[in-house]
Parts: sequence; structure tokens; C-alpha cells
Amino acid sequence: MARREVGADEFVAGLASLEGSPVTRDRVLDYCSERHLDPHSLERYLHFRPDMYTRNLIWADPIFEVMALCWMPGQRTVIHSHNGQLGWMSVERGALAVINYKWLGCNAADNQNVSGMDCLAGATELDLERREVVECAAGGPIATVDKLQTIHQVVLQGKEPAVSIHIYSRPIESCVAYDLKQRTCWRRTLSFYSRYGEVVLDPAVAAGGPGPASVPLIPAERLRRGQ
Ligand SMILES: [Fe+2]
Repeated sequence: MARREVGADEFVAGLASLEGSPVTRDRVLDYCSERHLDPHSLERYLHFRPDMYTRNLIWADPIFEVMALCWMPGQRTVIHSHNGQLGWMSVERGALAVINYKWLGCNAADNQNVSGMDCLAGATELDLERREVVECAAGGPIATVDKLQTIHQVVLQGKEPAVSIHIYSRPIESCVAYDLKQRTCWRRTLSFYSRYGEVVLDPAVAAGGPGPASVPLIPAERLRRGQ
């Protein structure tokens, strides 16, 4: 079925109308699969930087957050979890690859026994299994994360910049990031480069690395102490 073109405002209003019933992966997947965003309505949310990919908030409420991510050649996320979120991603421009991982074990597994988040993180030995690679290009199917497949890395493909739209439920402020070489993980605070079209992330702060990696990390010890 051909996707109907809608503006960003209409898209998020329709998304909000789904909140009267339980939000499931398939309900939002159907919603997204029937629409695509008018590129002109996205322009104010698009910010490309050579030193980092950018996360740009379009809209959020207690149930959903919707953002545009802008990618330049060579940019990628670290391997990360989604803190139990459901997520939907459509590529509007260019091409991305999603590399999925499965947690096999670690030496801090008891840190998953925590209320309100997926894990405190803080492992110094861990095993992740690299699984399938999902290629995502403009006009292609919607990619999802769910509670069973929650760990992945997103990598720009090719030499053209890319734009992807991400919907998450519910919004989160941090996630677990993984370093497979060091076999460690830690919690990472997430941030936006812009909110509602206005740049909010100080580029000087951002200079330390790509996207969320530029934001100071919360050591697991501090999280345990509730700081
Ligand atoms: Fe992700």
C-alpha cells in the first residue's frame, strides 16, 4: 500500500491519538507503515555536523518521543540498549544499517534487578552475540526495537548523509552502552542537539564525541547511590 504523505505536525497528532489504547509494537508499526513524512516539514529539525550525528527532538509527551537523527558519512552509534523501550525507525534519506546483539552474560547481571530501568550497568566482563544486520534505506520497511531485541548499533551506510525518524515509547533519559573490546558497559545520559527546532546542545560540550557519547556519563556507582 502506498504511504500517505503527512506533515510532521499531523504525524505526531495521529500518534498521540493512539494513546487511548495500549501502545504495542504492531499498532505503531501499522501507523508508520501507512504514512511518510513531508520532507519540507522536517527541515527545521535537521542539523548535520561533521563531528557527531545529532538527535533532534520533534515532539514528546509521557508516552512517546519523536526525533530526527542526522548522520554524516562515517558516523555511528555505540552499541547500546533501549532501557525496555519500544522503538520504530524509518529512514527518510540515505541508508543505515542496524546491527543487532544479544546479551549472553556478564559479571554484573544482578544489576538488572533494579526498578525503573533495564540495568544499572557497570559490568567489567560481558559477552554479547552479534546477530543479524538489518539494512534500512529510504522508502524501506520500518525497523523496530522491542523488549526482546533491545541491544543494537546503528551505522551510516555509504557516502551520502542520512536522516532517520525515531519514535520511542516511553521516553528515556539514559541507556546502557557497551564496549566489546573492553567487555564493559556503563549507563549513558542521552541528550538532544535541538528541541522543537532550536539548537540546545552547546557545541563545545558536544566536541568530545558523536551524538550521545558527548554527554557526561553516569558511573554505575553514582547511580547505585541515587546521585
Ligand atoms: Fe538505538
